[in-house]
This record gives sequence, C-alpha cells and structure tokens, in this order.
Amino acid sequence: MQIVQDAAGLRATIRGWRIQGQTVGFVPTMGNLHEGHHSLIKLARARADRVVASVFVNPTQFGPGEDFERYPRTLAQDQAGLAEMGCDLLFAPDPATIYPFGAAQSVSVHVPGLTCTLEGAHRPGHFDGVATVVCKLFNLVQPDVAVFGQKDFQQLKVIERMVRDLALPLKVVAAPTLRAADGLALSSRNQYLSAEERALAPQIHQTLLKMHELLDKGHARKVIEQVAASTLERAGFQPDYAVIRRAEDLAEPADDETRGLVALIAARLGNTRLIDNLPFD
Ligand code: PAJ
Repeated sequence: MQIVQDAAGLRATIRGWRIQGQTVGFVPTMGNLHEGHHSLIKLARARADRVVASVFVNPTQFGPGEDFERYPRTLAQDQAGLAEMGCDLLFAPDPATIYPFGAAQSVSVHVPGLTCTLEGAHRPGHFDGVATVVCKLFNLVQPDVAVFGQKDFQQLKVIERMVRDLALPLKVVAAPTLRAADGLALSSRNQYLSAEERALAPQIHQTLLKMHELLDKGHARKVIEQVAASTLERAGFQPDYAVIRRAEDLAEPADDETRGLVALIAARLGNTRLIDNLPFD
C-alpha cells in the first residue's frame, strides 16, 4: 500500500490507474481505525478496482470544547490495518493541503435544512465542516464510489444531499453499522469510556431496539421518545435526543407515518458523547 501526503502524488497514482481503465473507491476517515472502518474498506473493494482511504482529523468539524486536540492519532497502526484490508493507497494530507488558505478562510459547503436538526442543532457548524472537507477530498481523489457508515446516519444523508445537489460525479454507498457483541456501535470515542461506562454503553442500542418494539406495537411516537429519553436518564446517561425521524430528510414524521423511519440517539456518558441509530426496514 502506498502512503501519500500531497495532492500531486495522489493525483499521479490515480491517473495511472485511470489510464488502465480502473475504477476508484474512496473511504474518508479521521483515523484511529477499527473494524467498522475496515468493513467500509472491504465494501469499497467489492465496488471498485482500487481503494483509497484518507486519514485526516478535520479541524473545521470540531466545535470549541470538543475533542479535536485529544482525538486519537494513530497513523502507523492505521496504515498497517489498511494494508491488511487490501487498501491500495492511504492519503494522509497535512492541514495545508486541505486548507491552503487556512481553515478560517476556507470556502465552506453548507447543506441547508438537513443540517439544522439533531447533530446539527447540538454541534453548530459541524456539518459545514464535514461537507466542506468531504467535498475537498472528493475533488482531490475523484472517486467513482465513496463509502460512508450508517453509524453516522445524518452525516450519510448530508453527503448524499451534497453529492446530488452539486452534481458530483460519484456514487455514495452506505455501509451497515458494525457493533461489538453486546450491541455497542464501534467508535473511536468508545476508548474514552471508563470500565463502568463501557458496561452501560450498550443500553443505547437496547433503547433503540425498544423504540422499534414500541413503534411496532403501535405506541405513539412522542410517547416512545419520552420513554426512551427517561430510560437513558435513569441508566445514567444525559441524552441530547432520542427520537424517531423520517430517514430520508430527518424531518418529524406525521402521526400515521410508519414507513421509512429511523430511530436516533445521542447521549453523553460522563465526558463522552455517543451516537447511534437503527433504521426501520
Ligand atoms: P470517522 O469518524 O473516522 O468515520 C469514518 C467513516 O467510518 C464514516 O463513514 C463512519 O460512519 C464510518 N464508521 C464509523 N464507525 C462505524 C461503525 N461502527 N460501523 C460502520 N461504519 C462506521 O465520519 C468521519 O470520520 C468524518 O466526519 C469524515 C467523513 C471522515 C469527514 O471528516
């Protein structure tokens, strides 16, 4: 596996593949890779001839007081894992390659509507940072296919919307959420949890399952959301939201709407903020 830091090197390699008529799959990440990320690489392998992964801890998607400084940076380990998964090229750019005019002076991509709610409401500016960096990475890599995890459901929807609205010439592929045996969605942030918190954390997934069960039984959405939030609170979480939304645009569904929904939770456990979701399908 090749490791490249600069745009010229990246483009030269990809041009070589293109000349041979090969297609390119792309998996953008912030590193500290786990099996969830690896499953995205595997999916990209199945969809394209060559696979590029990027590792870039993107400053513009972290709010003040979030974990940008302490976000785990484990490039050597990430490199080994990616090589093992059959990734062809690791793009690990410097901030100046992504933000040549500095992060504060960058052109910004804003996806309206979808980004006002849930994560967008709790993390102002977060999705502008995500859409901006992903747009830049798409322009650098120019992939045929890009793989995103359903774990970050709203992010996936934001990227799908950006790609469609800006007519970016690539296909977005969604990868299912990889979980630990006890149901906890794999996340780089899980390592911040104390042993006690780690034991509680699977209750997020259990609550999502309970939300499904209650909706299937015909309970009112608002009641289910209240039950979910209070269950999490009683278990020791501070929930930001526990809701059922329309999967397509994350808007509140009508009372009689039962198709195309998704249950989503964000909750703090001590100092760690965890998110998870479960589509109804
Ligand atoms: P990061 O958190 O590193 O995640 C990279 C990709 O891995 C995302 O598409 C995410 O949804 C996926 N992923 C994470 N945990 C997963 C799991 N348990 N199962 C399946 N997929 C999982 O998301 C980002 O980075 C950034 O916002 C990024 C898109 C790279 C832009 O900076």
